[in-house]
Amino acid sequence: MSGEASTEAGAAHRPTERLRADAAGVARAAALLGSGRLVGIPTETVYGLAADGRNAEAVAALYAAKGRPRFNPLIAHLGRPEDALRVGRFDAAAQALAAAFWPGPLTLVVPLAAPDAVCDLARAGLDTVALRVPSHPVASAILQACGFPVVAPSANRSGRLSPTAAGHVLADLDGRIDAVLDGGTTEIGLESTIVACLGAAPVLLRPGGVPRDALERVIGGPLAEPRAEPGAPISPGLLLSHYAPRAGVRLGATRICAGEAALLFGAAQPVGLGRATAMLNLSPAGDLAEAATNLFGHLRRLDESGAAAIAVVPIPEFGLGEAVNDRLRRAAADR
Ligand code: TXA
Ligand code: MG
Repeated sequence: MSGEASTEAGAAHRPTERLRADAAGVARAAALLGSGRLVGIPTETVYGLAADGRNAEAVAALYAAKGRPRFNPLIAHLGRPEDALRVGRFDAAAQALAAAFWPGPLTLVVPLAAPDAVCDLARAGLDTVALRVPSHPVASAILQACGFPVVAPSANRSGRLSPTAAGHVLADLDGRIDAVLDGGTTEIGLESTIVACLGAAPVLLRPGGVPRDALERVIGGPLAEPRAEPGAPISPGLLLSHYAPRAGVRLGATRICAGEAALLFGAAQPVGLGRATAMLNLSPAGDLAEAATNLFGHLRRLDESGAAAIAVVPIPEFGLGEAVNDRLRRAAADR
């Protein structure tokens, strides 16, 4: 990806502080963020790489540390729903979704109402803003201590697997960020659902921690698809190949080939499983929420096993399965 090379030089080496999930760690994280530093923080979805959303220099350092192309805007995180409601313009659907799912794993893209709250660079120049109010108690405490919008993409190098533990953040970003706060393993395990509410019917930009059917019950009808009609919004980040392990990824596997590791779900037993160089099960019980929680961690471990490829058995598309399969398809996409 060309954006990675061009921003590489901007990320200076610095010692990365390890913070604990206690009052002192929360206060230190908030103080660092207030002075323009970069901090890895736990949320209920994945770890985020946090920076002051008002501070263009901090945001520039964040893009550089991740190697993220600057055309890909960031999500602004707020401590309370009422704080987020002031940053954007919420139509009836957006208000209903915010009331139903905040705090929680839902991001709403709405027209920007408070231009100084989230700098231009963080929005990649768009006149819309992505807003989220996390439910994780540590994230919530940090955001409330900050009192300003905190932008936080997933705390991984651009294009790589999202981090669900502090160790994953350090594996990608040690020496490139100021601190990481260790809040244990994240509960949901994949990113927030992103819905754009920009006038027409709400558009599902990214499946995630809130399943489609729960959203559709609240808006009382089907979500629209991105670019279903000319001018409909898209998420710039979703155009990229993403979540790429070093190993190749092969989906819908009913047999295991030589040199492959196996990623299983439920009781499925692909032909030739005995050949697998390594194997992990996302959820032996066939529970999609458990599969989501384990997804990125299991992919990392199979990747680290050195297998040439990871064969993934079929996973149902309903509920959280839509988001699990979305991430797997991106992991399997051509790079
Ligand atoms: O769960 C999550 O959402 C995590 C945690 C840390 O909160 N964050 C996260 O951020 O996944 P990131 O940067 O990895 O993904 C943000 C996505 C990108 O695909 C970006 O293109 C999209 O949100 N996005 C941000 N602002 C947007 C906007 N104004 N319009 C459309 N898409 C937008
Ligand atoms: Mg990401």
